[in-house]
Order: sequence, then structure tokens, then C-alpha cells
Amino acid sequence: MKKQKKRNVIVGQSGGPTAAINSSLAGVYRTAKERGYNKVYGMIHGVQGLLQERYIDLSKHIQTGLDEELLKRTPAAYLGSCRYKLPEIHEDQKTFEKIFRILDDLEIDCFIYIGGNDSMDTIKKLSDYALVFGSKIRFIGCPKTIDNDLALTDHTPGYGSAAKYIGTSVKEVIRDSWSLETEHGQVIVVEIMGRNAGWLTGASALSKGEDCDGPDAIYLPEVPFDMKKFLDHTRELLQKKASVVICVSEGIKTADGKYVTEEEGSPVYTDAFGHKQLAGTAAYLCRRVSEEIGCKTRAIEFSSLQRAASHFVSRIDILEAYEVGGAAMKAADEGYSGQMAVIIRTSDDPYQAGTEVKDVHKIANDEKLVPRDWINKEGNNVTDRFVSYVRPLIQGDVQPIMVDGIPRHLYVPGFQEMM
Ligand code: F6P
Repeated sequence: MKKQKKRNVIVGQSGGPTAAINSSLAGVYRTAKERGYNKVYGMIHGVQGLLQERYIDLSKHIQTGLDEELLKRTPAAYLGSCRYKLPEIHEDQKTFEKIFRILDDLEIDCFIYIGGNDSMDTIKKLSDYALVFGSKIRFIGCPKTIDNDLALTDHTPGYGSAAKYIGTSVKEVIRDSWSLETEHGQVIVVEIMGRNAGWLTGASALSKGEDCDGPDAIYLPEVPFDMKKFLDHTRELLQKKASVVICVSEGIKTADGKYVTEEEGSPVYTDAFGHKQLAGTAAYLCRRVSEEIGCKTRAIEFSSLQRAASHFVSRIDILEAYEVGGAAMKAADEGYSGQMAVIIRTSDDPYQAGTEVKDVHKIANDEKLVPRDWINKEGNNVTDRFVSYVRPLIQGDVQPIMVDGIPRHLYVPGFQEMM
């Protein structure tokens, strides 16, 4: 039988960016080329851009080995990202017809989407539509999120690098807090991303070692936040030490399910997936500490820095992101659809992991939380089990390519400006 000629691939990035997401993009590109695909298109701003027929030919951007190395070291979504929720198929078939018409015009065989749980909703819907309406295009998800909250994968690319940045930066904040003497002591509250899952905030415990005690308290969204207990514990800590460093997740919630940031009553922006924009938790807690305890406070929000710090990534993370991109492309090439590439850990020490694919229907829109027994009884720190899970994921470094003392990123004149 005559083998069918391979046609084209399209790849998109979606959701919050990470320092490793472009390494996955490079992995998809390299594997598509090695497996004999003709063109690799990149959607500009994910499906949202695709619906406006905005895409690029990636081979014009990745022309040399150096370009590929630069791409792996470039933070944020190179192609641009989106938080776009596709309608349900029965609600708006026209949107799906449009997407499939665009994909058919581009002669696409494989569609790879690099994203988190919301982005896997896109793969789920597109692969379902293809199945029902007889399209041969294969749809595969490639995991990505600093939040590490995707089901069925040991961890997600992007998490290890953000965890390394957080562990290190918290350690530096603790050192800094030792420097100056303050009359009534001081409380520093560090706010860390992660919406409903505390994986990132828990990574602040990585700062603990022979030369550092780590944060004095860590509050994750998995345990209801009690303001009175928080203030009492902070007061107790201040009696023992002059400087107290507390790490909190942006998404800590009170027992009634309300985010602590909402306590102030100011309007909160909500995206297409119904996620509230969370910020200001540290500032709010500092205000409460200063009112109730009357000491110096400082609120630190790592904000975008924790997901954009490509100068300080984990080598394991960048390598795995690349491999997982390759595994997603390989799965699509081998005929799978409606699946996501996952990382399976086979050993902690020495750390060993491989890739597989899993049904995206069991992953989309779900959130994997930190197990309760990885958090201490009081709900104000993580256990050693948590630390031994994350420690292997932050190992090794990738040196930035420095130009004039500053890391160089992949840049194609005119491209970023048109986004
Ligand atoms: O989804 C990843 C994430 O980084 C979350 O941790 C965070 O809550 C959110 O994105 C922030 O999104 P934005 O940059 O759109 O405010």
C-alpha cells in the first residue's frame, strides 16, 4: 500500500506563560521536522488568533541550531497565548466549522496545543468534533503550567523552574530580613501564584537548608485560611524572632470559599473560564498585621517574575519540556488524538521519568491539589514528603546566552511588534 505523504502541523500556546513553554514549542518543531512533516505553523495567540487566521510558518523563525537554543531560553509564550474558551459543540457549531475549514485550507494533519487544564478543554472539544464529523486531524495536548495542577501527570513543565526561582528568592528575602534591626520586629509576607493549588507556594520550603531555616509559615489554598489563627501564630513567632517571613498563596480562601483578596470588597476581574484575577493578598495581610500587631511589614508579590525568570531555570524542567513537546508530536504522528502527553516518574532517587499519553477527557478542567498529608496538621507548612517530591524537579541549570551582560532571547524583527 502506498504510504500517505505527511502534510503540515500546527502548534499553539495557551494559558499563563512559563519559562519552559518555548522549550516544548522547540520540541514539537524538532520532532515534526524529524518525522518528515512539511510545514510547522504556529498559531498567534492560540485558538483565538487561529479563528482570525493569524499564524506563522515557524521555519522562518527557527532557521539555525542557535535559534532553537535561543527559543528554549526565551520566557513567555513566543507565539502569544490566550485564555479563550471554545463553546460547547452543540451550542455553536459554526465556530468549529470555521476552525476545521482553516485547518483544512492549511492542510493540517496534527494539531498540538501547549497549555494547562483550560487549554486541554480545547483539545477535548476539537478531538470530539473531529471524531463525530469524520476529520482525520489528530489533536494532542502538551502540558504546561507553573501551577502544577494538571491531573494524571507527575508534574507539569514550567513548574520546576518556577519552584527553583521561588525557593531561591524566598531564601534571599529571608537573608535580607536579617540585615536591619527593627524596634518592634517585622513581618514580611510573600505572595506566590497558583490560584487554587499550593504547589508553587509549597516550593518556598526549598529555601530551607543548613544555612537557612526556611519560611516561618506557609499557607496554601488547600487549607481554609483563618485570620485569627494567622494573627495569633504571627504574634507568637514575633515573640521568638525579630523578623518573620511568611509565604502565602495568592489563592488562600476562608472557610466560606471566598478568596482572602476579596475580603476588601474591591471588584475582581474574571476571565472566560471564570477564574478571578488574584493579587493583593500579601498587601492585605500586611495591613491586617500592622493594624492588629503594630509592627513594620513588607508585602512582596513575585507576580510575573516567578514564571518569566528564564535566566534561572531548572535544567530538568527545560529538558522535560522539550521531551514532552516531542512526545506530543510523536503521539499525533502515530495516530493518537484526544490525548495529552504526560510525565511518569519512575524513581525519586536517582530521579527518573519518562513520557506516556493519557486521555485528555480525564484531564481537562480538573485541578490536582496538594494532598492534605503533604501539609502539616496545623495547615501552616508543608511536610518533608512535599519537599522530596519537588526537589528533583529543580536540579541543574541552563546558562542564558548573554549579550552585553543581559540574556538574549529569540527575536525576529517585526514579529513581536505585530502581536
Ligand atoms: O495559570 C497560571 C497563572 O500563572 C496562575 O498561577 C495565576 O493565577 C494566573 O496565571 C495569573 O494570570 P494573569 O497573568 O493573566 O493575571
